[in-house]
Amino acid sequence: MATTDETEQYPLPPSSVDSRLYTDPGQFERELHEVFFKSWLRACPSEDVRNPRDYLIWEQLQQSVVIARQDDGSLTAWHNVCQHRGARLVEESGKCSSARFVCPWHGFIYDLGGNLRFAPLKQEFDESRLKNMRTPPVRVEEYGGFVWICFDESLPDLRSYLADIATELDWFNLEGFDVRYRFDAVLDANWKVVVDAFNETWHVPFTHQETLSEVVQWGKAHLRICDPHSWMSIPVRGLTDRAPAGADHRASEITHYLAFPNTIYSNFPTHLQTWTMWPDGPGKTRFVAYGMVGPCPAGLSEEKWAQQNDRDWNNFRAVASEDTRIINSWGQVAHSLGQRDYLFNRAEGRLTAFHAEIDRRTRSGGATAS
Ligand code: FES
Ligand SMILES: [Fe+2]
Repeated sequence: MATTDETEQYPLPPSSVDSRLYTDPGQFERELHEVFFKSWLRACPSEDVRNPRDYLIWEQLQQSVVIARQDDGSLTAWHNVCQHRGARLVEESGKCSSARFVCPWHGFIYDLGGNLRFAPLKQEFDESRLKNMRTPPVRVEEYGGFVWICFDESLPDLRSYLADIATELDWFNLEGFDVRYRFDAVLDANWKVVVDAFNETWHVPFTHQETLSEVVQWGKAHLRICDPHSWMSIPVRGLTDRAPAGADHRASEITHYLAFPNTIYSNFPTHLQTWTMWPDGPGKTRFVAYGMVGPCPAGLSEEKWAQQNDRDWNNFRAVASEDTRIINSWGQVAHSLGQRDYLFNRAEGRLTAFHAEIDRRTRSGGATAS
């Protein structure tokens, strides 16, 4: 599937997917290896490792990775595993003033870049095995105020990977935004249920009757597929109706992006909410969300701007809790004998594209045109 026709509201035909792909442990393993370990993944806000010698332990997807700011300001990332006998090397995030990490088991010492600097009883080892020893590196880049990591050497750089999504996001100048709010939750559902739930709008009049249905013009969403990613723009009252004719879609509508496989941006021109879904087993997902705020718009006091942002973030929390209630209820019937195929209509075209991509990578019979 290639980038689709720009003019069509719903560019893809209906499709379906076998619901067993959401519960099967074998499929879950294939997704870890073929999807997550072969994608760029958004790990944490850059501000969490802002200064030299700040480091953070990222633990998702059964992995533990140290992300550290080096003295020259660059980042390094490496697997948090001692190369002597496999201990978890660094125990908690923080600041490493000495620039040395000491393994808690037998005292191997590593530097900020994960290179072995000292081994007790060195003469008793096969010394050739210790030469140039280091914890296996993980690729790391920064974009849009976040640190991204990648376990695959063969993927292109982050910007090439994000492609159209980066081109879209560039408009917002996210490096000038603050990560002002945070929220996370554990959901009783497969991670794909969570991605699906946030990538279509026509549940709005039902799930979000009280919160969004009067504001978001969900029926006018325009979908865009740019494999493996996708996005949509959605008119919204109070913004679209006030925008000058011919304004850029990012200035006049909510724009909503999926950076494949698991990061979503829901953007207003001046602020946004963004979240990542981390699978933690076939039936459990960690949902990690941030509120980002741009510079105070002209004509608004800082105080008013802060109040508006608090209000918007509280609204997001309310909307997200409506979504998570439905998502958790899926978990209560995930193993029901009544589970069959899931049907995606044309308004759910981003789900069709997402599952086709998962299917292509895991080769296990996913979304099919019906
Ligand atoms: S496992 Fe780290 S020093 Fe032995
Ligand atoms: Fe929703």
